[in-house]
Amino acid sequence: MQRVELAEGLIWWPGYLDRAAQEELAADIGTALGRAPLFTPRMPRTNAPFSVRMSNVGPLGWVSDMDGYRYQAFHPETRAPWPDFPARLLALWTDLSGHPAPPQAGLVNWYAPSARMGLHQDRDEQDFTAPVLSVSLGDTAVFRYGGTERRAPTRSIRLASGDILLLSGDSRLAFHGVDRILPGTSTLLDEPGRFNLTLRRVTPA
Ligand code: SIN
Ligand code: FE2
Repeated sequence: MQRVELAEGLIWWPGYLDRAAQEELAADIGTALGRAPLFTPRMPRTNAPFSVRMSNVGPLGWVSDMDGYRYQAFHPETRAPWPDFPARLLALWTDLSGHPAPPQAGLVNWYAPSARMGLHQDRDEQDFTAPVLSVSLGDTAVFRYGGTERRAPTRSIRLASGDILLLSGDSRLAFHGVDRILPGTSTLLDEPGRFNLTLRRVTPA
């Protein structure tokens, strides 16, 4: 198993999940989305829609709308609690996060081929000692990462289906984003596009 330290605390496991594991996880996400459908988040203040659609699993979910970015225990449209974490996703946290307390939020991002995500930090959590664990499924993404200041130089890597990335330690607050999706690079999903799953701890243990 290849393990690449891209920067201090920024760990990449290319091809961590084999095809069977990717299929199982994709099926788990399909089931969760049946209960908590993808919604379109909107930028605070401007109300501009994100190009990425989202949902969540776990006790807390990340949402964004006119009232700001936040974690909440229920779906913004159905108002129902988020579905439970799939056990397979929790197992990845146990195996790779190096963090004793369990995750509380599992953000599901769906990138249609034209979707992207601007450079940002994940900083809506109260506990930055816990890492963020990211799993990619479906088409490859051109993923950009930099330092903890926006103006720091950036590099890009291609995150393929089954790849896992950990933002921890000195890279917990690294800027990152997705420049574009490369449609047709994976046969995992029924339609072109990409799922990214990120596991986060929100409150101190
Ligand atoms: C995110 O920053 O929430 C998503 C990153 C990714 O799609 O790889
Ligand atoms: Fe992020």
